[in-house]
Amino acid sequence: MLLLLISAFVLLPWAGAGRITGGWEVKPHSRPYMAYVSITSDLDGCNPETFPCGGFLIHPHAVLSAAHCVAGKRKVTIRVTLGAHNIKKEEPSWQVFHIDHWVIHPNYSDTNYKNDIMLLKLKPKANLTKEVKTISLASQNDYVKPGRTCQVAGWGKTSLNEGLSSVLREVDLKVQREEECVETFKMKYIQQSMVCAGDKDGKKSTFRGDSGGPLVCKGKAHGIVSYGRRNHFFPKVFTRVSYFEPWICKELRKFLLQDLPECSSSD
Ligand SMILES: *[C@@H]1O[C@H](CO)[C@@H](O)[C@H](O)[C@H]1NC(C)=O
Repeated sequence: MLLLLISAFVLLPWAGAGRITGGWEVKPHSRPYMAYVSITSDLDGCNPETFPCGGFLIHPHAVLSAAHCVAGKRKVTIRVTLGAHNIKKEEPSWQVFHIDHWVIHPNYSDTNYKNDIMLLKLKPKANLTKEVKTISLASQNDYVKPGRTCQVAGWGKTSLNEGLSSVLREVDLKVQREEECVETFKMKYIQQSMVCAGDKDGKKSTFRGDSGGPLVCKGKAHGIVSYGRRNHFFPKVFTRVSYFEPWICKELRKFLLQDLPECSSSD
């Protein structure tokens, strides 16, 4: 069920990915697939630490996020809020879920962020409304091309020295040639299962708190905010959604005990 890695040492929350910097506040509820994922980890039973990640609704019963948000942490509790814009100001559109079941990719590695993907199961299911909608996934053979401009939204930090954003913000990032990430991350960057993207001028980026959010290209989720270099804006690595589509479908089917029309393969 939950594949919490029990480590003998404390893993620091990953700091390389996820601030929306240089972006803009989106029109409220214009990204109805966005999920605010609040994770609390209580190491010694008296010092609970809470931090945010992003996520996105792919099915009334499922939110996708990044494995590194949770992996290696002890005594984790996860809360998901859908239909939010200002996360500090409760609205009637909010749907809040306490997550009992989640699946971290079994081959996730916290040394190189391989397979950085996690599925959160919503029970009861989300109600689809004007403010809460699913986003479709890039299908298995849909390989996003370098040069394409995509969007990433999040409630992450807006600059190195500022706090988290209370409102949902978004940036445009360009899909980069694989060489850009190979040069920076060497062997860590795996072309097949990761997408390289960013703003070469280094003015716009994701940062701390945006992890797990989607890289959206032409209305489809193509990536999941995964990692970068600490305090660097460029380039950024995203989990390649199209590569994991079969895994996502398999896990969803297992959870729902039914076939899914939106899943292309059923192996
Ligand atoms: C969905 O709608 C039903 C019926 O109005 C309601 O009982 C339920 O609490 C809603 N679910 C969420 C997660 O808000």
